[in-house]
Amino acid sequence: MSIFNKIFLITGGARGLGKGFAQAVVQRGGKVILVDVLRDFGVTTEKELNEVYPGQSVFYEGDVTNELSMRKIWEDGEKRFSGPVKVLVNNAGIFHSGDWKKTVNINFVSLMEMTYLAMEKMSIKKNGDGGTIINIASAAGLTSAEVYESIPYFVSKSAVVSLTKSLASSNVLENEGVRVAVMCPTFADTEMVRGNHKVVEMVAKNKLGVMTVQRVVADFVKLFEDMHSDKVQNGAIMLQTSVAESQYIKLPKMNMSSKI
Ligand SMILES: NC(=O)c1ccc[n+]([C@@H]2O[C@H](COP(=O)([O-])OP(=O)(O)OC[C@H]3O[C@@H](n4cnc5c(N)ncnc54)[C@H](O)[C@@H]3O)[C@@H](O)[C@H]2O)c1
Repeated sequence: MSIFNKIFLITGGARGLGKGFAQAVVQRGGKVILVDVLRDFGVTTEKELNEVYPGQSVFYEGDVTNELSMRKIWEDGEKRFSGPVKVLVNNAGIFHSGDWKKTVNINFVSLMEMTYLAMEKMSIKKNGDGGTIINIASAAGLTSAEVYESIPYFVSKSAVVSLTKSLASSNVLENEGVRVAVMCPTFADTEMVRGNHKVVEMVAKNKLGVMTVQRVVADFVKLFEDMHSDKVQNGAIMLQTSVAESQYIKLPKMNMSSKI
């Protein structure tokens, strides 16, 4: 499957990595529905994208924690582009050290709601014709927090990895026609890193460096291509660091539910 003519819905698409993913999609002839709480950034991004690729992008101001509003945006976006959303990119996220419930709600609970909405719309069992979900977790989701305040972020991102693996292990591709994968970048040069002193401290203390947005976006395109070929199995976990090429990693499989 190629990106050409496909409709993508990208949460948190007004700036940062989400904006980069949107640029890559429209450059390849795809269409993007951008959703973000940041109205000014969203309007500017929509304008920038449509100046170069007219009519391929639409921005909706919206909060991923508002389930009804997300459903409406999904359906309005499909009407606008006269076709089904084929790819959901669950990218919206925060690094909020002061309010753990807010972090978990945005980074995980809403992402799970968006995922179930996508399953409802895309599933071949429910009148959909299949689709793809790419979750943007973090390398934080593959390890443990070493700073107390960052526990909510790490836990929420681990849950995103677990959700992705669980969907794949539950055969959503075979049964419902839905592909899933998760990206786990280390630090990338966006406002999330620049604008938060806790993250700046974390960057300074480790040797992982900071990736450019372009680097993360190039891997996003590679992940999309790989997951639609036989290069990786459904539920691929892509780890990205600035010190090496991206790699797919495997988690141990234990068949626990078959023992219950
Ligand atoms: N930058 C990094 O180092 C890094 C590393 C690993 C993972 N990530 C993940 O990448 C994703 C994108 O982050 P980024 O680095 O581009 O940061 P960013 O802050 O530039 O972008 C995040 C976007 O999500 C939006 N958003 C936040 N809460 C929202 C909500 N409730 N509803 C809708 N939109 C909302 C923000 O307004 C923003 O536009 C996040 O999930 C982040 O956790 C980032």
